[in-house]
Amino acid sequence: GSEMCIRDRRSPAARRRRRRARARGCAGWTPEVPTGARVEAGSAEFLALEAIGMQHVGQTGFVLVAGGLGERLGYNGIKIALPMDLVSGKSFMQWYAEYILAFQARACRADRAIPLAIMTSDDTHERTASFLREHDFFGLREQQVTLMKQEKVPALVDNAARFARADGSFLLETKPHGHGDVHHLLLSSGIAQSWAKAGVKWLAFFQDTNALAFRAMACLLGVSAKHKLEYNSLTVPRTPGEAVGGIVRLKRADGAEMTVNVEYNQLDPLLRATVSAEGDVADGASGNSPYPGNINVLALELAPYIKVLESTGGQMPEFVNPKYKDGAKEAFAKPTRIECMMQDYPRLLAPGARVGFTQLDRWIAFSPAKNNANDAAKKAAAGGPPESASSCEADMYSANARLLAKAGAPILRSPARPRATRRPTPTVRARSRALARAPQASMSRVAPRCGRWASRSCSRRKSTCARRSRPRGQSCSRRSRAARSARARPSSSTAT
Ligand code: UTP
Repeated sequence: GSEMCIRDRRSPAARRRRRRARARGCAGWTPEVPTGARVEAGSAEFLALEAIGMQHVGQTGFVLVAGGLGERLGYNGIKIALPMDLVSGKSFMQWYAEYILAFQARACRADRAIPLAIMTSDDTHERTASFLREHDFFGLREQQVTLMKQEKVPALVDNAARFARADGSFLLETKPHGHGDVHHLLLSSGIAQSWAKAGVKWLAFFQDTNALAFRAMACLLGVSAKHKLEYNSLTVPRTPGEAVGGIVRLKRADGAEMTVNVEYNQLDPLLRATVSAEGDVADGASGNSPYPGNINVLALELAPYIKVLESTGGQMPEFVNPKYKDGAKEAFAKPTRIECMMQDYPRLLAPGARVGFTQLDRWIAFSPAKNNANDAAKKAAAGGPPESASSCEADMYSANARLLAKAGAPILRSPARPRATRRPTPTVRARSRALARAPQASMSRVAPRCGRWASRSCSRRKSTCARRSRPRGQSCSRRSRAARSARARPSSSTAT
């Protein structure tokens, strides 16, 4: 396998392919801000686009890319099995399935089912298949769901492209080849062609842990249908330097132009080399990058898509993006794969293809669970979105509350709690230091009592609280706060 891989990379055909891919890259192109639909969530325009989208959702096939390892999240299971929120306890997969079923109920005849294809990899295939079976496909019909497995590629350890060995054995370490494989797989599995025969007109691609994507889906399809877009990416306002690609219109001296995603690590050098000495900076007024941030929720028209796949094989440009061990930039910090990205599809399109974007506010469209808690905390401290499991959950609650408020429901917001201004006493400071040193052991000792039991105000009330059999772990200050807010709360029903 490895020999074939090397031979293939060295073959004249492969070299020609790579030359073409480089030519399709950004060299020789000048970036411009593209035109697209920038829609305010909940506005009249949004509602009108949703209504158009709902007329088309019954002729849409959904494609979930779920072959990723989730290394940043540090979770060993499959990401679609993670609970999306702790109130409903629904997994991401259940949420997606229920949304598709809801679309189906609203938009299809009883005998028609909206198809779903899930791209898996060796890392996720078996677990995805058994997870779906165990849960009876979450109400979807079995025939409605198709799994397609992407192949893995050898991982590399350094700039010389030496292969990594798996766990020190003589087996090659392999990793998924990136979500760009989805296009080739939809063609080679025959799914795209069979969906077209069954009357599917649109494809909607989405990723494994961005539950909000479905809140924006009808609007996205509405924009595609209204403007007859062959390719339409859902985007959110992008903070300069943020690790999401920007949608850019690239123009060349010979008049050629294309609207494509430029990855965040290429955007800054491209801008500096062409239109802006400052690089990837805000556009002044909004504080956001003028280039909308791609979040890989894509709507494509199926008929032209099949034609493009048949002429190109659905092969996406490949790249390698290693993190280096040291300043010499020779050895990789960890084995790295050659990969390809699904958002590079517009690079396969002929000039004049109708490519656009739909920009919505981030709160309604994008909050993935990508990072483990430690990394998420660092990202939040640096002022960026944490994109952790808990921020993803909190953002969903917040989006629900905002949508309910827009629909006229009374939303009670808890009043902002004043920050404690009193300086902690020396005893409290000493205890906090002790807790920080041995958090587990000390917390179990302190938790049944008031969290601030050593402070003077609290210790005065300690005996009273104990006599009243205060619930475990509830501090007297929390208790009195709860009582105060219960007295203040109006009795009418509220939604939060
Ligand atoms: P991510 O960028 O989150 O990558 O993928 P990842 O591999 O899942 O996670 P890390 O980078 O190891 O932390 C975005 C989407 O693309 C899918 C993922 O499952 C996710 O839905 N994906 C990624 C694939 O389907 N195949 C791949 O080879 C890579």
